[in-house]
Amino acid sequence: MPETEEEREEETQRETPPLSRRQFLRGAGAVGVATALAPGLMERGEAADAVRDDSHSPVQRGTIRLTLLVNGRKRTALMEPRTTLLNALRNHLEPPITGPKIVCDRGACGACTVEMDGKTVYSCMTLAADAVGKKITTIEGVSPDEAHLHPVQAAFVEHDALMCGFCTPGFVMSVRNYLDKNPRATRAEVQHACAGNVCRCGTYPKIFEAALAAAQKMRAGKEA
Ligand code: FES
Ligand code: FES
Repeated sequence: MPETEEEREEETQRETPPLSRRQFLRGAGAVGVATALAPGLMERGEAADAVRDDSHSPVQRGTIRLTLLVNGRKRTALMEPRTTLLNALRNHLEPPITGPKIVCDRGACGACTVEMDGKTVYSCMTLAADAVGKKITTIEGVSPDEAHLHPVQAAFVEHDALMCGFCTPGFVMSVRNYLDKNPRATRAEVQHACAGNVCRCGTYPKIFEAALAAAQKMRAGKEA
């Protein structure tokens, strides 16, 4: 029977089997999780406080009334100041304008391309508030009337230049915008003009074929 404190400790160590590697890792994992959770819980608590104490927040809350000039018509709607032009067109106007597509929503694919004061822009990367007072044209506004397609639209149909069609409105907007400025565009120039548009279906050869055919028709129309 151990009598002193030291003897008792030695006895305990002799009786305690050594930890296996598996037991050690399990224990270390539990400690690690607890350590990782603690600051997380603290941050969540702080975040909750931040949400409650928002009286001095610099973020502007609520909605604003914006009037946009889209396809020749003034369209007014309420929206948050942070609303993108794409979101405004698709989700705030009534009836909505759904030609510009949401694909990446971060300026990487061109499916949302619209024209703003004669220049193509990614509407997902443009604030609706910044589009006020500017002339916005979407794919819905490029044909001369309901019975006729724009030559670029017609060429896309004739040359079967689409598969799923999600990229098509953006490509049509880019091609049309470029051909308006340069109806004698070469294939390389059209490709360059469409550098900001991505077709995940890989319909590029047909798209460029359609663009060149449209250029030819547009030239013939101007010369007639
Ligand atoms: S949705 Fe705007 S660039 Fe992709
Ligand atoms: S036709 Fe499908 S992404 Fe271009």
